[in-house]
Amino acid sequence: MKIIERIKNKKIKCAVIGLGYVGLPLAVEFAKAGYEVIGIDLDEKKVKAINKKKSYIEDVKESDVKEMVASGRLRATSGYEILKKVDTINICVPTPLRKTRDPDISYIVDACGHISNYLRKGQLVILESTTYPGTTEEMMLPILESTGLKVGKDFYLVFSPERVDPSNSSYRTKNIPKVMGGVTSNCTKAAVALYSNTMDTVVPVSSPRVAETVKLLENTFRSVNIGLVNEMALMCSKMDINVWEVIDAASTKPFGFMPFYPGPGLGGHCIPIDPLYLSWKARLYGFEARFIELASQVNSQMPEHILHILAGALNEKKKSVADSKILMMGVAYKKDVADARESPALEIFDMLSKKGAKLSYNDPFIESIRYRGRKVNSTKLTKKNLSGYDCILIITNHSSYDYKFVVENAKLIIDTRNATKNIKGKNRKKIVCL
Ligand SMILES: NC(=O)c1ccc[n+]([C@@H]2O[C@H](COP(=O)([O-])OP(=O)(O)OC[C@H]3O[C@@H](n4cnc5c(N)ncnc54)[C@H](O)[C@@H]3O)[C@@H](O)[C@H]2O)c1
Repeated sequence: MKIIERIKNKKIKCAVIGLGYVGLPLAVEFAKAGYEVIGIDLDEKKVKAINKKKSYIEDVKESDVKEMVASGRLRATSGYEILKKVDTINICVPTPLRKTRDPDISYIVDACGHISNYLRKGQLVILESTTYPGTTEEMMLPILESTGLKVGKDFYLVFSPERVDPSNSSYRTKNIPKVMGGVTSNCTKAAVALYSNTMDTVVPVSSPRVAETVKLLENTFRSVNIGLVNEMALMCSKMDINVWEVIDAASTKPFGFMPFYPGPGLGGHCIPIDPLYLSWKARLYGFEARFIELASQVNSQMPEHILHILAGALNEKKKSVADSKILMMGVAYKKDVADARESPALEIFDMLSKKGAKLSYNDPFIESIRYRGRKVNSTKLTKKNLSGYDCILIITNHSSYDYKFVVENAKLIIDTRNATKNIKGKNRKKIVCL
């Protein structure tokens, strides 16, 4: 196969469609491996930033973008015409849920429509966006074959899930094993050639459906285990047992146990959404994925539970939520990222606001959020500021927070992440943990 020879000799041009949390690290990794990479994004701001050698994703070093753009191996555009000239195309566009909580694969369909306008013999197309089993073969393949070209012979089609974990400094795009499944064995071979030049480990599987399901199993595993531990937290709070101490002690078992931690609810673009892609597809086969639905239910109750804890703690101080000043620490969906998509903080902010609380927030990674069309800026964590609030609500346990300073200067702290676990002595009395 000519494409494999060209990949091996690094004589290829690669396109990456969608330059977000997944696409930009991948584009940079391909460029570092020696390929010529063109990123395509509809967002002009991202295109301009790349061409100006700037990174807008915390995990992608600006020095890498600078070096790759300066060497001519990386550039960005918002037009699709470049697809005529490339050898490989990776699709990294969003896959959200519709308001009805059904999968929204319209971004993939849109990207495929553009690809089909330029598809030519010898090209390799890889979907990286998380999606339900069957998307590659049932939805993408017909669009691409409508050009008259035949998969496995004229062009190659593969699904390869992206497993990147923002803010994880040990595992990055390069050293996370890469799973891939092609529509035919030639398709898989082409993808193996592309990724084995770039990533440390490649894991070929028998089909796109298997590769699509691998990703959904991984994220369902997280969602179900977080659901289980959230249920333990609700149960333990009724029974007056410290769930954090239980988990820490259980974690000393050297086999058969893996710790998951409770929290204010699931967030981000993956864990709350991806399992519902799987249960939606299973329903089409008459199968009810009960664990998935149950975990989703338990996890989505957590913001309500946090409100309950907060109201109870304020009540002890003869205060109501409505006449309280509350500062939320962290609105990002997890620690050390600048991403507030699907963050439970936003839901809690909305619930508290509707109850009349006077709300502010601080997040070192997120300068402002939009609430009901209004811009709300992150406030500073000064001594004076902290002492002016009736309650500090810790939602995201960013590593840069000085929890000792916060506790010393606050009147009351609701800690949904056990971030204050090292605080001892009389100040401990100010803290109410999930
Ligand atoms: N963020 C994560 O941690 C993560 C991890 C693994 C997998 N995923 C999956 O990867 C996919 C992408 O997620 P993300 O977090 O990178 O999303 P993102 O929103 O950060 O980036 C997507 C980018 O695609 C662009 N885009 C949308 N439609 C386009 C089109 N038709 N043509 C060109 N560009 C287009 C958007 O402007 C945006 O820049 C999703 O399916 C997600 O579930 C995300």
